[in-house]
Amino acid sequence: MSETVRLIIEGKEYELPVIIGSEGEKAFDITALRRKTGYITYDPGFGNTGSCASAITFMDGEKGILRYRGIPIEDLAENATFIETAFLLINGHLPSLSELNQTRVLLNDSSMLHESMQVFFQNFPQASHPMGILSAMIMALRSFYPDMGTEEDIHTHFLYLISKVRTMAAMSYRMSRGEKVVYPRHDLSYCANFLNMMFDSPVHPYIVDEDLVKAMNVFLILHADHEQNCSTAAVRLVGSSRAPLYASIAAGVSALWGPLHGGANQAVIEMLEKIHKDGATIDEVIRRAKDRNDPFRLMGFGHRIYKTYDPRAKIIKKMCDKVLGKLKIEDPLLDIAKRLEEVALTDAYFIDHNLYPNVDFYSGIVLRAMRIPTNMFTVMFAIGRLPGWIAQWKESMEDPSRRISRPRQIYTGLTESAWVPMDQR
Ligand code: CMC
Repeated sequence: MSETVRLIIEGKEYELPVIIGSEGEKAFDITALRRKTGYITYDPGFGNTGSCASAITFMDGEKGILRYRGIPIEDLAENATFIETAFLLINGHLPSLSELNQTRVLLNDSSMLHESMQVFFQNFPQASHPMGILSAMIMALRSFYPDMGTEEDIHTHFLYLISKVRTMAAMSYRMSRGEKVVYPRHDLSYCANFLNMMFDSPVHPYIVDEDLVKAMNVFLILHADHEQNCSTAAVRLVGSSRAPLYASIAAGVSALWGPLHGGANQAVIEMLEKIHKDGATIDEVIRRAKDRNDPFRLMGFGHRIYKTYDPRAKIIKKMCDKVLGKLKIEDPLLDIAKRLEEVALTDAYFIDHNLYPNVDFYSGIVLRAMRIPTNMFTVMFAIGRLPGWIAQWKESMEDPSRRISRPRQIYTGLTESAWVPMDQR
């Protein structure tokens, strides 16, 4: 017999079906709760709410496990390219050689942007944040590539997005510096192409460094999906109204921008720079992070799901040492970060609150070493997260039980009140 839970409300007993995931995660199904009982559940921030069933990513926050389509993140970071990972997330299996070659051809074929889009870039005010530009440009892409009829069309659009977002990111960087745009090259891999578009110049031709290409692949793989996080939930929510793919992805970019989510990688570097500049001691910083009356938080620490060391942080920390070692860079921010981590991990407040470094704590230092400017960090996260958003959007569209997302609320305002004419207010 399948499992159920019993719920007693106002003396009456209700039986609710239990759903068990493939890794033994349990939920009880409240779909009929309001209809049967008149009650809804209350869960601000959705910390206990399963909004969908998904076969894409598995996380165990207590054990520090992250797997895409069953494959541990450690194996993907070690062996895969970002494009193989993107294919895996979207299609549910690793690509064969011919599938990978076909994907590469499509990515190359769709890497250019419509020339008229350059005008948009030129007209953003100089101080515009690249995340705002990216979100607006993804929306604009929809007008240039509107049709999404057949299944094949949809797959082409997925690759369009993955390819064009990379071109847009590099283009916005070049234009923000008043530099000539570098066009994508068909002979370069996805990540090498991006680095070339960012840094090639007639005076200093970019020489592809395979270690940096590997580092960028790893960075993007680590960010490629993270189940129902804030931005992915936004993508699914917007998509649930049947808004176009591009509009849903643009919503994901907007949600990612915030410093509590993808914007944390920029916030971490800004925090480390400030500590360095002000000469603050590590103890002072930790004391402020623990003080409830001080809004300061240790950026890059803590996570809604991970109650142990973020497995992505372990990988990026190693990558950080490798990249800085290879480039012979001595970054004082890395020393500050390591000292902060050391103190925080033995501090009672951080231990009691299960606060460990998350992926953003060290990723900014790797990006900095790769000469990516700080205000582009969250754009790099967005390039990485794009296949995850696409896979989750696709899964939600294919879900036979899909419904428009429409949470309820507990109303706490005034009860019925009389209209007050203007002269009596
Ligand atoms: N520094 C100091 N205290 C913290 C921190 C931190 N970074 N994070 C959480 N806490 C405390 C918080 O003050 C609260 O304490 P208390 O229970 O005594 O009031 C407790 O821990 C729980 O915090 P919360 O805000 O209720 O937890 P949450 O699950 O809602 O938030 C979080 C998770 C990631 C937003 C939060 O830990 C945070 O703000 N971290 C810093 C920003 C950051 O690094 N974000 C990147 C997340 S990883 C990238 C991604 O996938 O988005």
